[in-house]
Amino acid sequence: MASQSFIAVVGSANVDLTTFHDAFPKPGETIFGKSFDLGFGGKGANQAVAARLCGANVAMVAKVGNDLFGPATIKNFEAQGIDASYVGIAEGVSSGVAPIFVDPEGQNRILVVKGANDLLAPGDVDAAEPLLRKANAIVLQFEIPLRTVYHTAQFAKRKGIRCIVNPAPAQPVDFAQLGGVDYFMPNESEAETITGMPVATAGEAEECARCLLEKGVRRVVITRGERGCLLASEEGTELVPPFQVESVDSTGAGDAFIGSFAVFLGEGHPEKEALLRASLYAALSTMKVGTQKSFWSRAEFEKEWQKRCARL
Ligand code: RIB
Repeated sequence: MASQSFIAVVGSANVDLTTFHDAFPKPGETIFGKSFDLGFGGKGANQAVAARLCGANVAMVAKVGNDLFGPATIKNFEAQGIDASYVGIAEGVSSGVAPIFVDPEGQNRILVVKGANDLLAPGDVDAAEPLLRKANAIVLQFEIPLRTVYHTAQFAKRKGIRCIVNPAPAQPVDFAQLGGVDYFMPNESEAETITGMPVATAGEAEECARCLLEKGVRRVVITRGERGCLLASEEGTELVPPFQVESVDSTGAGDAFIGSFAVFLGEGHPEKEALLRASLYAALSTMKVGTQKSFWSRAEFEKEWQKRCARL
């Protein structure tokens, strides 16, 4: 086990502006929030950082703006040991930003302004081909143009590279263009939006996952927050249980799940164990405030895994 995998993330990088609040202002009203946190985020960047903290070699293909946040984002990748040689700086557009609102229960509401992320084009992916073709897995999300997502998924398929797609935020998907990706991993609300089916219960999640399989993806994982996740493939469906933690901020937990899953699977852990591990890695990230800065190191994670997996 545990050969070091090389994960390439083609996706978004944002700066997260997170406000913690008890109440939300009505139109025209000004009220006080409780506290504020500024940090690096973006679903793609978060997944890259989670994968790196879990021990993989990681490269990021992304676009940032030529503003205060762009060069700082690149420095952040480099400081984490992530290859940022294919993170471009676009002129005349802001970096991606995400005002985030976290309520007293730790639930978040996120507004993403895509900025430079929206300029990541198929040509940027072609330029990164010398690096991408060495990857064991390519991870994609939906905060960049969908034509770039499809282009990259088709590249991965041609080259026989494992492709993991996290369709977040949810948008209508052209499954023919997605080209039978290996893993399609929405959360419940994304699965609902994409299929138009309800996903409130485990039974409904199963139905929805089957519908997604029929559209041509090879395996579906629907993440269900505090209720664990559901894996579906042509062999059948399986529920993966959750882990209980004291949660303060769930922002980025889905990204922690995807990034860590790519690593655990790439290391050769059986699929169900890789999902369980990812489930714990994601749960642990909700115990701290922020997105990337709430992710645990592999050493910290392994200690917790040993403690908790003994009772599984
Ligand atoms: O999934 C959490 C992320 O969504 C945040 O970091 C924010 O930037 C948005 O992309």
